[in-house]
Amino acid sequence: MRNSRGILIVFEGTDGTGKSTQLALLADYLQSRNYPVVTTREPTTGPYGQKIRDLYVKRDTCSPSEELELFLADRKEHVDTLINPSLAEGKIVLCDRYFLSTVAYQGALGFDVEELLSRNSFATPPDIALLFYIPLETALQRITVGRGDMLNDFEKSENLSKVAAIFDSLSENYIKRINAEGSIQQVHLTVLSLVLPLIPDSLKLQA
Ligand code: TYD
Repeated sequence: MRNSRGILIVFEGTDGTGKSTQLALLADYLQSRNYPVVTTREPTTGPYGQKIRDLYVKRDTCSPSEELELFLADRKEHVDTLINPSLAEGKIVLCDRYFLSTVAYQGALGFDVEELLSRNSFATPPDIALLFYIPLETALQRITVGRGDMLNDFEKSENLSKVAAIFDSLSENYIKRINAEGSIQQVHLTVLSLVLPLIPDSLKLQA
């Protein structure tokens, strides 16, 4: 029995899959139906998250171990100060990236996947992890053309293909894979079909 504990829904996948757009659409949908929603992301906007963002343009100034420690410290703070308290208050927490991103991105640096999962055992497991996938070329095109952006150091294609391969290999039972090549609306409907069955009416705010 879950009682009034909230629900943790995480959005995962390589860069350029549209997961952040889908997170925002789901948040709007749930809020319009009177559910208490908290949206959040990793890296966070806290001090460790800021250090991580500084690495986007100079990733080679930091060793793989130091980088891993930063993501873990950022997550620890996030879980303790926002995720767990929000779940305890019965909220639906939508989180853009979580520990499967560490498994895939730091795994692509050579860390062992099982070890990375165990280093993240402090983090509350998600009720569902929506894992968005699209062909790598489409993802790269979405980042550079669609977003009008340069690839940051985490998004280089050799790196992203390793990241995608690790995401593909994961088999945790809370993972649901979503083909993100469809239209925004089609993908949104898929998200709803996976998420809504998990959300009890009892989480709704009183009118
Ligand atoms: P991203 O979701 O692109 O954040 P933002 O939109 O705020 O810039 O994440 C930034 C990068 O960080 C992304 O390329 C993946 C990487 N990352 C890791 O390498 N490990 C992690 O644990 C997380 C959460 C992200």
